[in-house]
Amino acid sequence: MIRPAFSSRIGFIFAAAGSAVGLGNIWKFPFETGANGGAVFVLIYLGFCFLLCYPVMVAEIAIGRHTRRNAVGAFSVLGFPRWKLVGLLGVLCAVLILSFYNVIAAWVIGYLFEMLRGNFAIGDNFSNFTSDAIKITLYAGIFMALTTYVVSKGVSAGIESAAKFLMPALVVVMIGMSLYGLSLPGASNGVVFYLMPDFSAVNLSVVYAALGQAFFSLSLGMGTLMTLGSYLPRQANIVSSSAMVTLADVGIALMAGLLIFPLVFSQGLSPTGGEALIFEALPRAFESFGPVTGSVLGSGFFLLLAFAALTSTVSMLEVPTSYLVDEFSLSRKTGAVIAATLIFIISIPSLLSAGAVEELTHFVELGASQQSASFMRAAGMLASDTLLPVGGFCIAVFSAYVWCRQNLKEELTAANVEVSPLLLSYLNVSLRYVCPLLLAIVVVVTVAEGFF
Ligand code: PHE
Repeated sequence: MIRPAFSSRIGFIFAAAGSAVGLGNIWKFPFETGANGGAVFVLIYLGFCFLLCYPVMVAEIAIGRHTRRNAVGAFSVLGFPRWKLVGLLGVLCAVLILSFYNVIAAWVIGYLFEMLRGNFAIGDNFSNFTSDAIKITLYAGIFMALTTYVVSKGVSAGIESAAKFLMPALVVVMIGMSLYGLSLPGASNGVVFYLMPDFSAVNLSVVYAALGQAFFSLSLGMGTLMTLGSYLPRQANIVSSSAMVTLADVGIALMAGLLIFPLVFSQGLSPTGGEALIFEALPRAFESFGPVTGSVLGSGFFLLLAFAALTSTVSMLEVPTSYLVDEFSLSRKTGAVIAATLIFIISIPSLLSAGAVEELTHFVELGASQQSASFMRAAGMLASDTLLPVGGFCIAVFSAYVWCRQNLKEELTAANVEVSPLLLSYLNVSLRYVCPLLLAIVVVVTVAEGFF
């Protein structure tokens, strides 16, 4: 089968960065930082991104490009059919993550409409907004349909074009809003919380959340980048492309923190507001520009955020779709529609778990903190904080010990691509020793501690 390819390396970088940059950076990163002690969480997260995630990203993309297959088929093509389980875990993760991610995307669409109407009070009534099951289901349906449409059109036509000009636009709006936020009274307390580490706040649950955030935000550990890598031409430099994707993703997350925390502190909100944080802090900030400008800015912001989320949901739906297309010979359109329908059905409990149904809203007691978590939060913790690092662990072990260092090196330097020997040694040491050891420790300890 001839696989469509990205038309250029830059097309791949935008698609991979488009996958990485999304609600994980702008919605999840600020609330996880707020709930986990501020600057110290940011430091641990940065350490994980560069020490663990960057090498795993290189390995994932290399496996995808070498095999030109989906996350499950890739392992069989390499001759290790038992490792298919890692790919299946990835498909499962993609289904689970998309099922709740789509709900947050639905909130974003809802906010887009509210900002268009100039309803800036929405942030004060956030729980009423999220518990309106019919409205949120409608928005979620719209978002899933959009994602399915883009995926069914094929990878290069769909993902590349959107990411190229919308991501820079989002960055420009974020910089403008941050500068405004920093000028507000009380903003400096937000900057201190965000940038001055308080090491006494470190505990296991902070480390666990930072690891999950790093994997989630970089779209790692579930075969997304393996799948995207399978469309990458041989001449592209995987090592430098991955570095650019990591830097872009981390940069945008850091910027989101600088946008949100000054607003949170200047409005006297609590940084520990959880999933509601950006949805509560942003509307009043837009309002202060006056009704017309505020409405234009607010709707523009949520429109761009919806696009950023779309480039991520597209890459998530691509994982089960390309599995169905490659392994069951379905057409791309049929594969995408089947996967999306299934995911939409699975997303219903998440949809109802933000106020609509009490049992789902207070779904489990978290072992360590004795707080309750909603169904959606529990699904998020299971998928992003536990399963993604487990997937990353398997990919590191597979690439370093099973597929072997020599093959990885050959793939990274295929078509005479130059990679500095120092960087290759760094990747090798990280994948062989640092990733397996650190990931195993964190996953085992946190599971044993009852986080999950
Ligand atoms: N990285 C995406 C974000 O930050 C979410 C995602 C996770 C996408 C896993 C694909 C795979 O929004």
